[in-house]
Amino acid sequence: MITIDVSAIEGFVPTGSVKAMEPEVKAALEKLEKGTGEGNDYIGWMNLASSLTPEFLAEIKETAATLRDKCDTVVVAGIGGSYLGARAVIEAFANSFSWLRKEKNAPVILFAGNNISEDYLFELSELLKERKFGVINISKSGTTTETALTFRILKKQCEEQRGRRTARKVIVAITDAKKGAARICADKEGYKSFVIPDNVGGRYSVLTPVGLLPIAVAGYDIDQLVRGAADMETATDSNQSFDNNPAAIYAAARNALYRSGKKIEILVNFQPKLHFFAEWWKQLYGESEGKDGKGIYPASVDFSTDLHSMGQWIQEGERTIFETVISVAKVRYSVTVPSDEENLDGLNFLAGKHVDQVNKMAELGTRLAHVDGGVPNIRIVIPELTEYWLGQLIYLFEKACGISGYLLGVNPFNQPGVEAYKKNMFALLGKPGYEEESKAIQERMRK
Ligand code: PA5
Repeated sequence: MITIDVSAIEGFVPTGSVKAMEPEVKAALEKLEKGTGEGNDYIGWMNLASSLTPEFLAEIKETAATLRDKCDTVVVAGIGGSYLGARAVIEAFANSFSWLRKEKNAPVILFAGNNISEDYLFELSELLKERKFGVINISKSGTTTETALTFRILKKQCEEQRGRRTARKVIVAITDAKKGAARICADKEGYKSFVIPDNVGGRYSVLTPVGLLPIAVAGYDIDQLVRGAADMETATDSNQSFDNNPAAIYAAARNALYRSGKKIEILVNFQPKLHFFAEWWKQLYGESEGKDGKGIYPASVDFSTDLHSMGQWIQEGERTIFETVISVAKVRYSVTVPSDEENLDGLNFLAGKHVDQVNKMAELGTRLAHVDGGVPNIRIVIPELTEYWLGQLIYLFEKACGISGYLLGVNPFNQPGVEAYKKNMFALLGKPGYEEESKAIQERMRK
């Protein structure tokens, strides 16, 4: 199983404070399981993994096979929860240089619709001119500006390049069952489409078609991903004792730290492939907890790379941080340090060792140094970067996030703050219906 070690937070929180949170954690877990907490209309993710049917997974795989057959490139258009889960999983498994080199038998997966950069869209469009591309358009609301604007451009280009008939076969929509512009367009054009369940919010949607379809197109095993998540569902339910429930322990430890003045959590990896996993995690925790003037600020670093940039701050900066390290026990490949007769670089003491042994000592050395420097440490060990274990890790973080939000006293399933910038942007752009806001902004700017 995935293991979690919170022993290195001792000394930073009052003795026994993790265990002391057991009743609170139990109450939070009960709210999730019985659906009696705030935001209870968005807890469909809780039993998603264990309830997905083989028929449903087969439909996803069949659609993925069509895209793989008809496209050398697939653009996943989506933002926030509508793309980060897929990207996290795909990049965790992809060759580190997949942007340079095509993966065997799989289309190149590109991500768009997650920014409003004209240069990005121009360069994407130029690149796609030479490609047989398809699009997976993902938007629960179906109206998100970044994604809708990008999709409008991609749809036009796909139709012009591949003809409208083929475009209809290589564009897939993942959206609401009934409402939103993406649904209207999908129905009108006759695109293959999948529904994002009403009771699953964007950041908890990786085990819906939102994550599963792009992951299957990229060639990864969604059955194993779902199986891992389902096993973690069981391992974190209320039948487990507090001490054996990794989601309960993680939620309790990070909240004990928060209550002791540690306001920033840094998710650390020693595998660059996990960079986007941290981006997914940041969204999950940031949107779930940062509200009502509360919340642990989720940050992330890629070590050892960032030890040479952020390492100084972490070692000696303001002592309001703690680290959660994701450690991958076994790497996929083998590279050993060669012996060198001249030993000009002085590295012969490492000759014959695996690079990962060096990495693991960097990890341990960093942990000891940071704890000595006043940074508490939570360590989560995942046996290998496979679909099964990543499925477990995804669910572990989701469950812990739900518990954690209730421990903080917030609704972990809404994101009212995300609307503020949209309102101003629409007013500034003159979107119909925003005349009042537009006037108020103009007044503010005059002052
Ligand atoms: O977690 C969330 O709810 C958000 O990050 C959304 O996923 C994101 O804003 C995209 O929304 P939509 O899928 O409606 O385009």
